[in-house]
Amino acid sequence: MNINYKECVDYIKSKISCTPQIAIILGSGLGNLANEITDVTVIPYSDIPNFPTSTAPGHKGNFIVGKLSGKDVIAMQGRFHYYEGYSLQQVTLPVRIFSLLNVDTLFVTNAAGGINFDYSTGDVMIIKDHIGMMPNPLIGPNDSDFGVRFPDMSNAYDRELRKLARQIAEEQGVDIKEGVYINVTGPSFETVAEVNFFRMVGADAVGMSTVPEVIVARHCGMRVFGMSVITNEATNDTAESVYDEQSVLIEADKAATKVMNIVKTMISRIK
Ligand code: HPA
Repeated sequence: MNINYKECVDYIKSKISCTPQIAIILGSGLGNLANEITDVTVIPYSDIPNFPTSTAPGHKGNFIVGKLSGKDVIAMQGRFHYYEGYSLQQVTLPVRIFSLLNVDTLFVTNAAGGINFDYSTGDVMIIKDHIGMMPNPLIGPNDSDFGVRFPDMSNAYDRELRKLARQIAEEQGVDIKEGVYINVTGPSFETVAEVNFFRMVGADAVGMSTVPEVIVARHCGMRVFGMSVITNEATNDTAESVYDEQSVLIEADKAATKVMNIVKTMISRIK
């Protein structure tokens, strides 16, 4: 499917008067973080030509443009998931729109299940790297207006931004994890055997988003910082009792303040 990016971008530009260089994707249960943004313009996805609408629980479906820590930002209150039936081109459309709006830094957040036995519900994890288990969103003819055919992924989650986040977490007295995120298509949660397998191959947390967006952002040359909120312990037989959509949202909401404090301070310090 060919997406008319220009129409989306022109529409968004017609609604805003600033040029945000920072974009933030707010994951499941983290949409309220947008309340921290001031001087806001709300752009519902449903108003944007060619734009999908988000159907996932805890995902509102708005762009919020405004100021955070003195900088202009554009936030996505609600993202698109592959499991909703969207193509990966639709899932990653907002990232290409960010690129066309001249965003150079992308913050991604998500809710994830903890696979590492040292992780507990409510922990916050800096994403160090990912293991992609969905098809690659760049499959198909390369659009060289955005990037090269074979983009490098060796520094997908920017080393400097991760270091800054660790420093800030320490200053704020937040015990932060740093680990590998693995993505599954969902919507079914993982079996016990799958979780064991993911742990064996080096994953620390599992979720149903983020990887396609990060691949497309890196293709466009953006620097990326990612954080997961551990909303449940996806470990063996304990999993069943904590695996449900509502508890994921409740736990994400509880940990949201920690995420926001780190993100806000990072934004105030980055160039
Ligand atoms: N698995 C997959 N996605 C998730 C989980 C999980 O345990 N928790 C929150 N999102």
